[in-house]
Amino acid sequence: MQVEVTDKPFADVEADLHAIGLFDGDELPEAYHVRGAGDVKTAFKKLTLLRPKRPERLLIVGLGKRDDLDPERLRVAAALAVTEAGAYEAQTIAWALPEAADERPPREARSAAVVEGTVLASYRFDRFKSRDGDDLAPPRLERLVLAGGDDAAAIADAAEVARVASEAANRARELQSLPSNVVTPGHLADRAREIAHAYETITVEVLGRGEIEQRGMGGLAAVARGSAEEPQLIALRYQGGGQSRILGLVGKAVTFDTGGISIKPAAKMEDMKMDMSGGAAVLEAVSAIAELGLPLSVVAAVPATENMPSGTAIKPGDIITQLNGKTVEVNNTDAEGRLILADALTYCVRDLGADRVVDIATLTGSVLIALGSTYAGLISNDDEWSRLVLAAAERTGELAWRLPLHPEYKELTRGRDADLANLSSKRKAGTIYAGSFLEEFVDGKPWAHLDIAGTAWDVGRPYVGSGPTGFGVRLLVELARNLAA
Ligand code: BES
Ligand code: MN
Ligand code: ZN
Repeated sequence: MQVEVTDKPFADVEADLHAIGLFDGDELPEAYHVRGAGDVKTAFKKLTLLRPKRPERLLIVGLGKRDDLDPERLRVAAALAVTEAGAYEAQTIAWALPEAADERPPREARSAAVVEGTVLASYRFDRFKSRDGDDLAPPRLERLVLAGGDDAAAIADAAEVARVASEAANRARELQSLPSNVVTPGHLADRAREIAHAYETITVEVLGRGEIEQRGMGGLAAVARGSAEEPQLIALRYQGGGQSRILGLVGKAVTFDTGGISIKPAAKMEDMKMDMSGGAAVLEAVSAIAELGLPLSVVAAVPATENMPSGTAIKPGDIITQLNGKTVEVNNTDAEGRLILADALTYCVRDLGADRVVDIATLTGSVLIALGSTYAGLISNDDEWSRLVLAAAERTGELAWRLPLHPEYKELTRGRDADLANLSSKRKAGTIYAGSFLEEFVDGKPWAHLDIAGTAWDVGRPYVGSGPTGFGVRLLVELARNLAA
């Protein structure tokens, strides 16, 4: 999507649909007192279309109480306007930058929110829908013009950052949506190579099955054993200069999770094509960070594999050795994410040289029970690092809630015959168990784990709706921006 900021008068902007927000108690500007103006409601999410002479179509979006305004409300308002734009087959939408009481939220945050809501709500996954003859695809929204008035110069950067991050989120959503016969581990590796080719600041390295086994990545090798698809350990390095501490990102990319020999029930198993959401978020976040040219260093490790049952698959009770030498009893082959992340975390810290790490993964169904689709679960061994991640989550609306670590949870992860077990028979505190397990593989570096099993898919917010959310892309870009600042 094209995004422009202008200081032109709002009504002079060329667009198919113009949108303004109105708060409770606000008067509609005099010029818009046309037939139907009496119907205008200002309650949050109420929409009214007016037809003044100029502009031709004016959408009034209710914003509710002025004091209740936050970026999330603006993301939602922008998404509702996109739906309305669709009804008129609009290709360009113009928004008047909404005001706020005492600059809360500040103009940069308001403009970013409108851009995010618009770009994210415009995403469609329809490339496999056949169209015949004159059944042409309806025109897409292609352009957003933000009329910023005197604030135009001040909001231009924020609008551009929001555009880049939201487009990257939409690319991650495409990877999430694509089925597992398209998005294989090799496909993700190709996408990583494409990203590296696009930016001189990025280099890529991909390890295949042979090297994964040779180097002792026993977790990734074990999960991949049951699949005919070659696993890939995808590594990206971004060098944007600036301060020296290296940010490490790790993303789970199970391109399809059947559960393996501990096979999942058939109902809704098709959704497990999205078990690569963390990996997709990491790849596209790195591409956005490079597009923005942020002055910092980032390394990323994405372990990619299918989890399949077969004659060569790992079996419950098998004992494997992870890259850092720790041994694990695989009591349940469906708890595969932690096995591949364990190796990727070690690789990220030891080989890629990360000083602090965020991993992001659709790791446990338990997080959906605990936090629903509103918050991702956050687990961290470092208060300061956790605070930085939570701040980025808050600012982007990709919310996270910290869950505790405790020696008693750690106790649960001990194996009977090996150092660790990937699942305990007690099945207590599933999300924290997985986090405690992962902590064993970060060499004590500041680490934060985001469990996005509840937030990657079917969140239901108006700007992401059903299906893929691209959760984490905007959060990770925001985190990188704050580290670079
Ligand atoms: N990929 C799943 C987790 C998941 C569940 C993602 C729902 C998205 C939506 C993960 O690999 C898994 O199977 N987890 C098991 C772990 C259990 C066997 C300890 C789970 O959550 O049931
Ligand atoms: Mn699983
Ligand atoms: Zn999984």
